[in-house]
Amino acid sequence: MPGTWLRDAVIYEIYPQSFADSDGDGIGDLRGVIDRLDHIASLGVDAIWFNPCFESPFVDAGYDVSDYLRIAPRYGTNDDMVELVEKARERGIRVILDLVVGHTSIEHPWFQAELAADGPSPEGDRYIWRTDEPEKGWDVDLPGIPAWVPSPGPRPGWYLKNFYDEQPALNFGWVHTDPAHPWRDAMDAPGPQRNKQALRDILDFWFSKGVSGFRVDMAFSLVKDEGLTEGEKASARIWREIRDWMDQAHPDAVLIPEGAEPRTGGPFAFDADFALVIMAAHASLFDDHSAGILPWQEPRPPFFAAEGEGSTKTFLDLWALWRAEDPQRPVILATADHDFNRLRCGGRTPEQLGAALTFIFTWGSIPSLYYGDEIGMRYLPGMPDVEGAICNPGYNRAGCRTPMQWDDGPNAGFSSADPADLYLPIDPDPDRPTVAAQDGVAGSTLELVRELIALRKRTPALQGHEPTRVLTEGYPFAWLRGDDHLVVVNPRREPAVLVTDESAAMQPIFGSGARLTEVGVELDGFGYGIFAR
Ligand code: BGC
Repeated sequence: MPGTWLRDAVIYEIYPQSFADSDGDGIGDLRGVIDRLDHIASLGVDAIWFNPCFESPFVDAGYDVSDYLRIAPRYGTNDDMVELVEKARERGIRVILDLVVGHTSIEHPWFQAELAADGPSPEGDRYIWRTDEPEKGWDVDLPGIPAWVPSPGPRPGWYLKNFYDEQPALNFGWVHTDPAHPWRDAMDAPGPQRNKQALRDILDFWFSKGVSGFRVDMAFSLVKDEGLTEGEKASARIWREIRDWMDQAHPDAVLIPEGAEPRTGGPFAFDADFALVIMAAHASLFDDHSAGILPWQEPRPPFFAAEGEGSTKTFLDLWALWRAEDPQRPVILATADHDFNRLRCGGRTPEQLGAALTFIFTWGSIPSLYYGDEIGMRYLPGMPDVEGAICNPGYNRAGCRTPMQWDDGPNAGFSSADPADLYLPIDPDPDRPTVAAQDGVAGSTLELVRELIALRKRTPALQGHEPTRVLTEGYPFAWLRGDDHLVVVNPRREPAVLVTDESAAMQPIFGSGARLTEVGVELDGFGYGIFAR
C-alpha cells in the first residue's frame, strides 16, 4: 500500500520562521534546521512537516505563495532543502512540505498576468473572475470565507479570494455550471485543467528532490459549489486523481489533508484524516481559549485542566464516528499547531503536561508534535500581529508562533539578531523552558516526550494500527490498546480511581502518580500510567 510508513509515524511540525536562525536576520531558516537535526532526531520522530517555505510576500506567513518551485530566499535555497532532506534521511527522518494550492499570492505571476489582461485568458482563467455585481451573501468579510474582492485593475470586475484578500482562489471549476453565472467554469474547462496540471508539476518537482509528502492546506475547498458538501466531494475527487497518478509516479509519498477527508463512498485520496486543532473535538480537550474562540467552538473548560470540569465526549463522539466509518483509517492528532493555541496554555503547568502527552502518544492515532511543545513552551497572549497572525481582534495565532527556546544564551539561542529584529518576541519569563535546561534531566517535559515516543516505537500495541478501546470517559480517562495495554490519565488536580478487571496481572511500564490496586488503578492529581501484561 502506498505511504504505509505514515501509519506508525510520529510527525514533528516546524514553523520555519521560528525554529532556528543561522544567519542572524531574526527569522529562522533551513540551515538553522539542519544545524538542529540532532535535536529533532533525539526526539525519535519519523517526519518533519514544514509550514510553507516557498517564495512569498508573507501576507499570511507564507500561506500566500508566489513561486511554488522556489524556497523563499529568507529560508535559503532549493539546494538547502535538498541537503536538509538528505541529512534528515540519514537520521531516518522524512520531510513533508505544505502545499497551498487552493489559492496563490496576488504576487504570483499567474495572478499578475490575469490582472493585467482586459478579459478572460484564451487558455482558460486560472482564477475566478466576474464582471457582474456579486450578490449579497457571498460577501462575508472574514478570513477563511471565500468572498469577492474588487479587482484593483486593469482587469475589470471582482476576483474570488480564499482567506485574506491577497490570497486569490485558484479556479478548479464548479460541479454545477449556470448560464446566469458564466464565470462558473466546468471542472474540465481549460482553466481548471491548467491548474490541475500545475498541481502535479509542483508535486513532481519536490518529490523528485526527495520530499516524502505534503500536508495540503484547505484541501477540500478547491471546488466551491455552494453548501460545500458537494464541492468538498468534488475536491476529494480531484485529489483521488492525483493520488492515482502518485501511486504510479511516487508511490511512497503521502498526502495529508488539513482536516478530515469528506466521505465520498469511493476510495480515499489522502493517507490520513487530521483531527484539526481549531476544530471542536481537539479544542474540547486542550484549548483554554487563549488564542480566541472560533465560531464553531464552545466556550467551556477543556478536559485537560486542573479544575476537572471538562469532558471527552465531543472528541470521543467524533473518534467513534471515524472508527465506525473505517476502523483502519489513520487519524493525525497533534499537540498543537501554527493556527491556534499551544498545549501549554493559560494555567496549564508542566506538571499537567504528562497526562496530555501520555494521551497523545498512546492513542490509536498518528501523533504530531508542534515544535516547542516537547519542552512545554507557552502560548504567549498579546503577541503582535506579524504576517497575518491576528485574523480578527478575537483570534491571535502569534502566541503559538514565537521563537524556539534552545538555551540561556541571547534570544534563547534562537538567533544572534537584535531582539527588536526577531520574527516575534521570545517568551520574557526568566524561567521559560529551554532544550538545554531539560536535556538529560529526568522528569523534564523533554525527557518525558522522548520516553513516550521511544515506548511507542518499541511497543506495537501503542502504535496507530492497534485498536483503541475506551474504558472510562471522565476523570480518570482510561483506554486499552490491543489486548494487553492499559493507559490511564487523570488530568485534574483531585485524585481519581479506576475500577476495572482489565488491570489484573498487569505491570506498570510507564508513568507517574499511578498505582495498581486490588480494584484497578489509583491516580494522584495529574497522574498518568501505562500498564501491560
Ligand atoms: C493554514 C493557515 C492559513 C490558511 C490560509 C490554513 O489551513 O493552516 O495558517 O492562514 O489556511 O491559507
